[in-house]
Amino acid sequence: MGPIEFNKRRIFILVAAVIAFYIVFHGLTLSGETIRDVSARIPLPDSLRPSKPEQPLVADPDDIWDLGPPPPAPAPESPTDASTLPPPESHPVEHFDLHPINRLMQEADDTWRLYETSISTSFRQTVEKYRSKYGRHPPPAFKEWYQFARKRNVFNIDDFEQIMDDLRPFWAINASEIRTRAAHMWEDEAFGAAVIHIRDHKVVRTDNPSWRSDTMVEVINKFIEFLPDMDIAMNRLDQPRVVVPWEDMQEMLQKEYETRAMPPEVMDNFTTNQPELLNMSIEDRANDTSTRLDDGWFFAPGRQYMDIASKACPPESPARSNMSIAQADKMYKETEAGIVSNFNLSSDLCTVGPAIQNLHGLLYTASSIIASHKLIPIFGECKVNVNNDILFPANMYYLHDDRYDYNPEGDVDWRDKDDTIIWRGVTSGGVQTEDNWPTMHRQRLVQLLNGTHLSSTDTNVTVLTEKREASYQENTTYEPYDHFHASQFAEQHSDVGFVEAWGCVPNCGFYDQVFSWKPQTSLTAQFKSKYLIDVDGHSFSGRWHAFLQSKSLGFKATIFREWHDSRLLAWRHFVPVDNRYDDIYSLLSYFMGYGQPNMEHALESGDPNPEVYIAAHPREAQKLARQGREWSNKVLRREDIEVYMFRLLLEYGRLIDDNRDHIGYSGDGSELDKFDAGDKSTGRWGIGGWKD
Ligand SMILES: *[C@@H]1O[C@H](CO)[C@@H](O)[C@H](O)[C@H]1NC(C)=O
Ligand SMILES: *[C@@H]1O[C@H](CO)[C@@H](O)[C@H](O)[C@H]1NC(C)=O
Ligand SMILES: *[C@@H]1O[C@H](CO)[C@@H](O)[C@H](O)[C@H]1NC(C)=O
Ligand SMILES: *[C@@H]1O[C@H](CO)[C@@H](O)[C@H](O)[C@H]1NC(C)=O
Ligand SMILES: *[C@@H]1O[C@H](CO)[C@@H](O)[C@H](O)[C@H]1NC(C)=O
Ligand SMILES: *[C@@H]1O[C@H](CO)[C@@H](O)[C@H](O)[C@H]1NC(C)=O
Ligand SMILES: *[C@@H]1O[C@H](CO)[C@@H](O)[C@H](O)[C@H]1NC(C)=O
Ligand SMILES: *[C@@H]1O[C@H](CO)[C@@H](O)[C@H](O)[C@H]1NC(C)=O
Ligand SMILES: *[C@@H]1O[C@H](CO)[C@@H](O)[C@H](O)[C@H]1NC(C)=O
Repeated sequence: MGPIEFNKRRIFILVAAVIAFYIVFHGLTLSGETIRDVSARIPLPDSLRPSKPEQPLVADPDDIWDLGPPPPAPAPESPTDASTLPPPESHPVEHFDLHPINRLMQEADDTWRLYETSISTSFRQTVEKYRSKYGRHPPPAFKEWYQFARKRNVFNIDDFEQIMDDLRPFWAINASEIRTRAAHMWEDEAFGAAVIHIRDHKVVRTDNPSWRSDTMVEVINKFIEFLPDMDIAMNRLDQPRVVVPWEDMQEMLQKEYETRAMPPEVMDNFTTNQPELLNMSIEDRANDTSTRLDDGWFFAPGRQYMDIASKACPPESPARSNMSIAQADKMYKETEAGIVSNFNLSSDLCTVGPAIQNLHGLLYTASSIIASHKLIPIFGECKVNVNNDILFPANMYYLHDDRYDYNPEGDVDWRDKDDTIIWRGVTSGGVQTEDNWPTMHRQRLVQLLNGTHLSSTDTNVTVLTEKREASYQENTTYEPYDHFHASQFAEQHSDVGFVEAWGCVPNCGFYDQVFSWKPQTSLTAQFKSKYLIDVDGHSFSGRWHAFLQSKSLGFKATIFREWHDSRLLAWRHFVPVDNRYDDIYSLLSYFMGYGQPNMEHALESGDPNPEVYIAAHPREAQKLARQGREWSNKVLRREDIEVYMFRLLLEYGRLIDDNRDHIGYSGDGSELDKFDAGDKSTGRWGIGGWKD
């Protein structure tokens, strides 16, 4: 969308008409004032205004990448202020852009400001906050973990919420039971678990190893001197594993709550020589006569996942009640154009499950599901909200792999990027057959952003368009327009397609009539587009960190949960997308703009949607892209992954300790006062950084 263009004659006629109107209704004579003077005071009609008052009409809106954040939006006037203002005749009326996205961005900024200002700045505060939040002492070696984290410039020392949430229910089962399950989980290879064994501060063996467990070991070795002996069971499948029924889970959480205690003096070390860890001196597992527990694994590939998952949902949630989809949508979407207002719920199967159970590969055609309804201690890279797998940062984010690593060299500045949305990938997401592919999540996306497909199927989509009848004094308001013909728009602005077919039964021949294969495109080459969309494959998408780190803006639709979720805020760091994608054209047209402000002009130019006009919002897009990039460079670094893993394994180490109620850190944090004061020459952590 270029800047709005008018020919001079049209502007003249329009301005003249406005002036005439003004004279008639205000009885103003032109004597003593030039036309120029009068017109300068007349507020421009909406269609001639930029979307924000401070934004110049003709300046290149893209040319601001390296500037600071845009000035804050003017605060809405309160009624009392308004009454004391000079009359509107001498001051243009304050004008607001009431697009729901503007409000959502504002709300996200407010939430984020709260998050940012509540961060602990010393060990004392960190310890105090830990106790008040979790009702326990921090685990043994917390002091060492804290120093490890500070030396790596960890930004938010308090935000390990995901770890605490994941581990909470395990307080309801014995430490010995957790150790027993973890020790032997690898023994039947069919159940898809690898186990890493740590003894005497070394990884002594990994059973059923792979590049994934090797990567995890690489991370663990950074802080293994502080860890007790343990067996770590790791999921080898892409799909999550543990689904504990909701009623059982509530009981476990209650038990956890009851076991909270802070005895005055506890020992700051782990117990040694605990039983039920795997006996490493037995060569042959058949000679190991120790107790095994039944993990209750069952195989359910291709089954409706909601049949399994809904057991873990609250009875009043849409997944277990007969709430209609429209009612459920109201819980997390804007009513007008279905823009996601609550990303947590839009990716929560208890809420969206009924709506998308046949629209996401994992939910109806998963290639491998091995699940259990028992609380099994298995570590995984991703899960859906109903699972109780213990999350850890995906190995792909730690490895240096060109296919997934952000490389700043090829990235270009925002102003040099194309006004397009790009996606590349293979047809993964589940087992595909000639009948089931059209409703799978990747396939739907590729079809919906294919202009040729849209025109041949005469598909109508919904967008939010500016309300035309709004008089010039009013705010810009929007209304849904539900028969938008997106074909031409998609042809101009989308570059989305598969590079390869993969995972079909009996073979992928049926795609020949439907898709054309695009050339492989490196991650960096994709950053030529301003907008990147990320959707799930068989499991979570390993490109997400790179998308966030890039200078482009990430769009995200997913049902998966990952380690970083509590650190990433929708509408502050990325654009959330509904898993049905019914909001995609509202989102794209908000950022890229659509149409001509003047309908006559639109008709002349053969616009397929002459009734639709929406001003572009490049500044907002760029702001989100910049915030996502700056934030991910602070909290999604490889160092952050090390700190997360260290903390996770300390908490896990305590959980599997028979003395777990009597070990931990019970001091007041004063031991590290000196450390926190820092070395003046290098500045404080987080600002200047520590030197080892
Ligand atoms: C483990 O928990 C069970 C109940 O779940 C209990 O009967 C048993 O005594 C506990 N074992 C140990 C060693 O604490
Ligand atoms: C733990 O520390 C206490 C003193 O704080 C000491 O008596 C005990 O031997 C230590 N245990 C281990 C296993 O190091
Ligand atoms: C481990 O197995 C060896 C050989 O069977 C045995 O001698 C040893 O006592 C076992 N260790 C433990 C802690 O059970
Ligand atoms: C188990 O141990 C016995 C005696 O310690 C030994 O003879 C045997 O080879 C071992 N392996 C199996 C599979 O039984
Ligand atoms: C379904 O809805 C009806 C009324 O709307 C209600 O009486 C019934 O209990 C609901 N059933 C379930 C399973 O929630
Ligand atoms: C996400 O939603 C669930 C269900 O309503 C809620 O229990 C949980 O606290 C929410 N999480 C966040 C981070 O808001
Ligand atoms: C799309 O809207 C047009 C009217 O604008 C209608 O004729 C057509 O049937 C609609 N297409 C579909 C697939 O519903
Ligand atoms: C414009 O929006 C502002 C902020 O939401 C509001 O206070 C004001 O009343 C609106 N003006 C009109 C004319 O609706
Ligand atoms: C887009 O759709 C058309 C018509 O269905 C199809 O021929 C073409 O291959 C599709 N393009 C891509 C990139 O899949």
